[in-house]
Formats: sequence, structure tokens, C-alpha cells
Amino acid sequence: GFTPRVFSGIQPSGGLTLGNYLGAIKRFVEKQAEPIEQVYCVVDMHAITVWQDPEALRRQTRELTAGYLAAGIDPTRSILFNQSQVKEHAELGWIFNCVARMGWMQRMTQWKDKAGKNTQNASLGLLAYPSLMAADILVYHATEVPVGEDQKQHVELTRDIATKFNHDYGVDFFPIPEPRIEGAATRVMSLRDGSKKMSKSDPSDASRINMTDDADTIAKKIRKAKTDPEALPSEAKGLEDRPEARNLVNIYAGLAEMSVDQVLAEAGGKQFSEFKPMLSELAVAKLSPISNEMSRLMQDPAEIDRILGQGADRAREIAAPILTKTKEIVGM
Ligand code: ADP
Ligand code: NA
Repeated sequence: GFTPRVFSGIQPSGGLTLGNYLGAIKRFVEKQAEPIEQVYCVVDMHAITVWQDPEALRRQTRELTAGYLAAGIDPTRSILFNQSQVKEHAELGWIFNCVARMGWMQRMTQWKDKAGKNTQNASLGLLAYPSLMAADILVYHATEVPVGEDQKQHVELTRDIATKFNHDYGVDFFPIPEPRIEGAATRVMSLRDGSKKMSKSDPSDASRINMTDDADTIAKKIRKAKTDPEALPSEAKGLEDRPEARNLVNIYAGLAEMSVDQVLAEAGGKQFSEFKPMLSELAVAKLSPISNEMSRLMQDPAEIDRILGQGADRAREIAAPILTKTKEIVGM
């Protein structure tokens, strides 16, 4: 058996969204209450699979770190660091590039979405990124990966890579990690289009709530969120063909730590003109303490860098011996 260990990461490719908060960070903070070693990462090497302005990348790396800290990740308890500072990720990523098959990578829906029609012009890194993600997880022998639903396929690919490596080399060296996709808001959708997920890389700012949005901006975006003209149903099954309505109820449930049925027991029968202000008020109450703390932390970038540096040292202590052993298995 493998010692339980949690790993997850977020790309510093833009500001944090409510989707990242409900689908990832908030759940990491809850996880932190469990007596399991936990490793949380700013995955900057993933961010550069699409163009990043260098100054923006540096700022976003610190801002994301501030977001983790402000939301409640305790760097004395969890390991919090920046991926590119621990070179073991890249080294194991290369070995996994030689384990993963082209067909596996080309089947990834995120590759198809992000590369678009002109795949010849996408970076090679964009195609290979899930193999680096497998290295992020497995270089810590992580057994659990809390993520949003959009990352399920990549965690499954990680399991395939671990299984193939173990099989090819006749070892039982890498654990087969479990995706943990839990809670009411595992897939927060765009506020403008109920068929697209809310993402920091969506060109439309109105499509998402950013962790740094002020109260007026949050209220305005929720007021303008696409909905239908019906009142809210009193049970979850009444939301089945209403993606926009379901999304707002899921967000409410995630923020309030309630089930969808509990939310509808209270809000069933209400029109959106009444429900949207309730949601705005809740979102502002939950997000503004975090965004205030992020601004405070951002005033001392040296302190953020110091925390990341210490986290990288602790991360390396786990990753280095696992990489050394992997290379030995491979014949290096
Ligand atoms: P983004 O798509 O915003 O760039 P990342 O790819 O960095 O986000 O993902 C970081 C984490 O946030 C992952 O665990 C991912 O599943 C989660 N996540 C991202 N967007 C959403 C969303 N809309 N709903 C729920 N979880 C999400
Ligand atoms: Na993503």
C-alpha cells in the first residue's frame, strides 16, 4: 500500500474564478482538516502551453499563491509551491512522454477544445500537458487528486500512465491515484452560456466571477447572468433541462455548503428577480473576505516568494528520491 497523499494544482494563466474556488481551492481547504499530507501547486509550466506575457505570468503566480493563502491553505501544514521551482516535475514529465501514447493525448477533450481546428499551430506542450500533469501527481506518489469535473479525463490518463509504467518495467512503483470530484459545484458554468464551463481563460469577463471582483461587479454579473423566465422548482429534478438555472442553484449550494435540494426547499417558487440578489449577497459575503486578504498579501510580494521558496524545498524532499528511483527503474 501507498501512504495517502493529496496533490492538486491550478494554472496561473489568469485571475482565479469562482469555478476554481468552488471546484478546487475551497475543497483543498476542507481537505486540509484531514490528517493526510497535502501538496498544492501553482502550475506555471502548464500555463505557458498557451502564450503568457512574462510580467503577467509573474504577477499571476503571486496572485494565485495569495488566493490559496487567503482562502485558508496553511503553508505550515500543506506544501504550497510553484511547479517550475521543482525541476523533478519536468524530468519525470519527459519520462512519461515516453510512456504515454500519441493516441491517448489526441483523445483528450481539452486538447481538442483548446487546440481548435488548427492543431498544426498548437504548441507541442499543449498536447503533452496531461503527461506533465501525471508527473505532477506521481512525483509525490499522490493517491488522491481533488479536482473539478473538467480534469477527470486527465486524472484517468494519469492512472493509465502509472499502470503502463508499472507494467512495462514490471514494478509496483507508482500508485494509481483517485480523482476526487465532490460537492455541489464540480462544474461551474459560464454566466453567459450554460454549455461552457466558467474559466479564467474565457475572453468574456462577464462570463465569470473573478475572486478579485468587487461587490458591485459581482452583483452586476449575477444580475446579467443568462437565465430562463420560469420560477425555481422545488426539487432538483425540475432543473434537468435548465442549465443556466441549475448553474446558479449549484453556485448557491456550493457557497452556502448546502445540497441543491436544501437550496430549492428554501428558494423553490421564487423568480430569478428575487433569487439573483440572494445569490449576489451570498457570493459577496463569502468572497470579499478572501479578496481583501489577497490584496493585503499582494502588498508584500517578497513574503509570497519566501513562502513559495520554502514550499519548493519541502516539495523537493519528497520528489527527488522518487525521481531518482524512477530513473534507476528506467536504467538511468
Ligand atoms: P481554468 O480552466 O480556470 O484555467 P485550471 O485549468 O487551472 O482552471 O483548473 C484548476 C482547478 O480548478 C482544476 O481542479 C479544475 O477542475 C478546477 N476548475 C476550473 N474551472 C472550473 C469550473 N468552472 N468549475 C469547477 N471547477 C473548475
Ligand atoms: Na482547466
